[in-house]
Amino acid sequence: MDSTLRKTHWELIRQADDFAAKVAGTVTEDPHRLGYHIMAPSGWINDPNGLVYYSGEYHVFYQYHPYSSQWGPMHWGHVKSKDLVHWKHLPTALAPSEPYDQNGCFSGSAVDDNGILTLIYTGNVHTESKRAQVQCIAVSIDGVNFSKSADNPVIGEAPKACSPDFRDPKVWRHGDSWYMVVGYREGKIGKALLYESRDLRKWKYVGVLADNDGSLGYMWECPDFFSLDGKHILIISPMGVPGHKSIYLVGDFDYRTGWFDWQHYAELDYGHDFYAPQTLAGPSGRRILFGWMNMWGREQPTAEKGWAGALTIPRELRLLPDGTLSMLPVSELRALRKDHVRVENIEVSGEGNDYLASLAGDQLEIVAVFELAGCTATEFGLEVRCSPEGDQGTSIIYHRRNGELIVDLNRSGAGVGGRTGGPLKLREKNTLKLRIFIDRSSVEVFGNEGRIALSSRIYPNPNSNGVKPFATNGSVRIRRFDAWKLKSIW
Ligand code: FRU
Repeated sequence: MDSTLRKTHWELIRQADDFAAKVAGTVTEDPHRLGYHIMAPSGWINDPNGLVYYSGEYHVFYQYHPYSSQWGPMHWGHVKSKDLVHWKHLPTALAPSEPYDQNGCFSGSAVDDNGILTLIYTGNVHTESKRAQVQCIAVSIDGVNFSKSADNPVIGEAPKACSPDFRDPKVWRHGDSWYMVVGYREGKIGKALLYESRDLRKWKYVGVLADNDGSLGYMWECPDFFSLDGKHILIISPMGVPGHKSIYLVGDFDYRTGWFDWQHYAELDYGHDFYAPQTLAGPSGRRILFGWMNMWGREQPTAEKGWAGALTIPRELRLLPDGTLSMLPVSELRALRKDHVRVENIEVSGEGNDYLASLAGDQLEIVAVFELAGCTATEFGLEVRCSPEGDQGTSIIYHRRNGELIVDLNRSGAGVGGRTGGPLKLREKNTLKLRIFIDRSSVEVFGNEGRIALSSRIYPNPNSNGVKPFATNGSVRIRRFDAWKLKSIW
């Protein structure tokens, strides 16, 4: 396009925010709008981007299409918070304005470069005649308004330049250098490439940080790389693995060789709606993760109300002694709690048990401790968001023989269905502790102190608010059941 006709970045930002302000009022009336999760003011959101603790505040950016509730030319939306709980929308941070990012400002990260908040993102070009992905930076001194660098693109092509899939840079500081891990496709193999820089502008290609034999996907989207409790963790969202999963690999990394020697991997979250997570290092070194709480290819019934997509609640990662990761909601989220209910010693058999009849809500935190000693049921768990008629409900099921925790969405309301789960092995005498966050159109389940997480979107009727324990083919005892109503932040 003739550059004299092109709108400037500032004009495009203003245009996006004016549009969002005009339609924001209409989306707030949707009963499925979330109460305490990060969402765009309206329009479409996917991956969390640019997670950073900067100048005493947490900043979260996200892939954002302000003009419709479908994916489109990507902008970066922006929120910030002092406490990881209460978020404030800020002006759109990035809009596709330049030849090198004309079809979208794709995912990336943020760093505090000596007081300058610097975004590192992928410029996407996708026209009939050209496909290219390049790495770019944008800077801000006030943490709100971002200018794209005159040095862009700072990485103009991948080392072998054999594939246009080269995106989602995650940058961190180590010693006197900046390092970047970026996702790459080489033929049928997904890879994470490593770069190094002194100034965030000139980048030297170090080599392949990690790759796979093809069984872990042909393209690794949104890589993230960090040390945790004595090991290194690489998070990837691979394409070409059935069911779109996000995976973490645990291993050892040597800055002298640039090679990540990973020993094992597992899924990060076994729910229906979790993808492209990213982490940040909090001020005290905590590793905090947000994911996109939706999934490519899944129906999003809120789209007809003018919005689609949200991020998960923030979760803290820890490496457990057995080398697996645990993921638990950050403790700050307790600030949302009000109206506590506690019930102890509930013997559950069959369903229709009304011990919890007094408890109802569409914004709840639940902590339930089930005893396996004496349990005769083959499956047990909780049904949440149950309708008074019994035709709706989202089941969180522990299957004893398979050692599996499952979320069943087959009666969860409009547009969704399917059952999915993951492994959680318990010994006979163990307990199962479920921690569940319900927020209007979402459910996030954490089993046994974050050893497993499942995140799913649900779209029940607004009056489907009940909570019911159940046990199949036998009984189970709930030692203690706590629930809180949760406040809204928007
Ligand atoms: C992951 C992803 C990224 C890309 C972005 C585009 O969900 O495909 O690889 O940068 O979304 O919106």
